[in-house]
Amino acid sequence: MEVKKITTNTLLKMKASGEKIAMITAYDFSFAKLFDKAGIDVILVGDSASNVMAGHVTTLPITLDQMIYHAQSVVRGIERCLVVVDLPFGSYQGNSKEALNSAIRIMKETGGHSIKLEGGEEVVESIKRIVSTGIPVMGHLGLTPQSIYQFGTYTVRAKEEQEAAKLKRDALLLQEAGCFAIVLEKIPASLAKEVSEGLSIPTIGIGAGGDCDGQVLVMHDMLGINTDFKPRFLRKYLNLADQINGAMQQYISDVKSKDFPNEKEQY
Ligand code: KIV
Repeated sequence: MEVKKITTNTLLKMKASGEKIAMITAYDFSFAKLFDKAGIDVILVGDSASNVMAGHVTTLPITLDQMIYHAQSVVRGIERCLVVVDLPFGSYQGNSKEALNSAIRIMKETGGHSIKLEGGEEVVESIKRIVSTGIPVMGHLGLTPQSIYQFGTYTVRAKEEQEAAKLKRDALLLQEAGCFAIVLEKIPASLAKEVSEGLSIPTIGIGAGGDCDGQVLVMHDMLGINTDFKPRFLRKYLNLADQINGAMQQYISDVKSKDFPNEKEQY
């Protein structure tokens, strides 16, 4: 049977019909395959790979080549969902030509369907240039982790009127520049609601309340692999760290006690 693929147009239609969009991060073939089979709408190959795959404290160190490697692995695992790939820090902020070249590398070398980049007014020229070549762009406003050294903390953004007003302006600018969707990270739910209602393109929230048009979580957080991260917005659907620990202890014990392998588990 032919698989009905999710496209950027599908997401627009979902917003129009009120169907929420479910997005999750993934960084490798095996998890991407599981998530796609489960029916996820969008997989984000996030630069959070820098944290959860490589163990860095921030998203800043990951390179474009490393993002391409992760995205290639994810794309091999999926059949139907839309794949969005983050442009990493330093691959697009220089100028719009650099941004376009990075976006083109992602599209040519990974088979991903779209890119995401962080920022408002300051990246509008780059977004227009990338969109003009036919590459779909997702925006990202609010807590933008690539600017963590400017913010100083990972606390909720845009609580003050001035920052909230800039975020509202930026959201409209991103829509006008041609973004097909915008991630809203860690902002007050009331602001996210206002922004979502004022846009024709979907918003995807993370810590931005239930009125966004969709939600995204980092897979390691929602599966309970990453146990140190416990923000209020996170719902844990599994406690994989405990389950993996239990399985490993059992395996170690079985090997040491010579229980594994038994006669049926050998040739
Ligand atoms: O890199 C990432 O995982 C992200 C999500 C938190 C939206 O940008």
